[in-house]
Amino acid sequence: MAAFATRSAAFLGLAVVLCFLAGAASAQQLSPNFYSRSCPNLASIVRSGMTAALQTERRMGASILRLFFHDCFVNGCDGSILLDDTSTFTGEKNAGPNANSARGFEVIDAIKTRVEAACRATVSCADILALAARDGVNLLGGPTWSVPLGRKDSRTASQSAANANLPGPGSSLATLIAMFGNKNLSPRDMTALSGAHTIGRSQCQFFRNRIYNERNINASFAALRQRTCPRSGGDGNLAPFDVQTADGFDNAYYQNLVGQRGLLHSDQELFNGGSQDALVRQYSSSPSQFSADFVTAMLKMGGLLPSSGTQTEVRLNCRRPN
Ligand code: HEM
Repeated sequence: MAAFATRSAAFLGLAVVLCFLAGAASAQQLSPNFYSRSCPNLASIVRSGMTAALQTERRMGASILRLFFHDCFVNGCDGSILLDDTSTFTGEKNAGPNANSARGFEVIDAIKTRVEAACRATVSCADILALAARDGVNLLGGPTWSVPLGRKDSRTASQSAANANLPGPGSSLATLIAMFGNKNLSPRDMTALSGAHTIGRSQCQFFRNRIYNERNINASFAALRQRTCPRSGGDGNLAPFDVQTADGFDNAYYQNLVGQRGLLHSDQELFNGGSQDALVRQYSSSPSQFSADFVTAMLKMGGLLPSSGTQTEVRLNCRRPN
């Protein structure tokens, strides 16, 4: 009986070890400790790279957060958005939502160079982007969280998937709910993630129609934005999303929505008499509720992975496959 128990325990132990090994080998198993042995200084390298970038330009925290969103929504968080187009390769950088808009690639390159110097051919570009997005949020005053790691980089990208999966600034609430739903993100996740628009800038071309033609907009806010976004021309002129604290990661975005000071049509859709009104009101008065839900939703979004069978690797240069 004792021998049987010992053999069973040994078998169980072996099974646990095998499961663990299988898990560690699989790209689907992310863990905050993934690089704790192979690249122990990873987190501090990324943090100092983001600190330096934000010292040059505060907006960069926003730009990197957006890159992460645009990476994850297109066939999972696999660094696909970082791949450059070449004469024989069409990536995602020139898809509609990214062209002349997605930015911050050189910040990821600079961090990657330092990570490669410390831990060669070990850390994926997708993981660097996930950590950098987290640090950007935190350095601008937002929450921090522990980032599950172990993503791999794609060898391909999809311009058509980028065009199809990323929502545009004219989207209705129903479209936003559906597009996030396609990524297994709930309406609550969608509303919390949209709070990312508490930082960063938008070009005039994306909010012109709203400030000249829409009715659910605060009149003095519309007038303010019209000063730098003319009826014609000035397409690329920038305005902050958040009229209160442009570069502070806080819940002011939701206060703006309640006051009809959303910048994009799609922003104001979250508070326009529909299903998300109550949640927007909650976030507008509870920074801690917003922070908690934002982190939960970022973890869900960061868990989107390429479908199994996709060829992946740890890229040496984030701009091209090995
Ligand atoms: C809900 C649907 C969304 C729409 C329709 C949308 C649309 C846009 C647009 C049109 C811009 C301005 C781009 C430009 O002017 O070049 C922008 C910027 C930005 N978006 Fe979104 N976005 C959405 C959701 C998100 C999410 C989920 C995140 C991150 C979690 C995010 C993060 C950002 C940030 C931080 C910026 C500012 C980037 C910068 O200043 O460089 N957005 N978005």
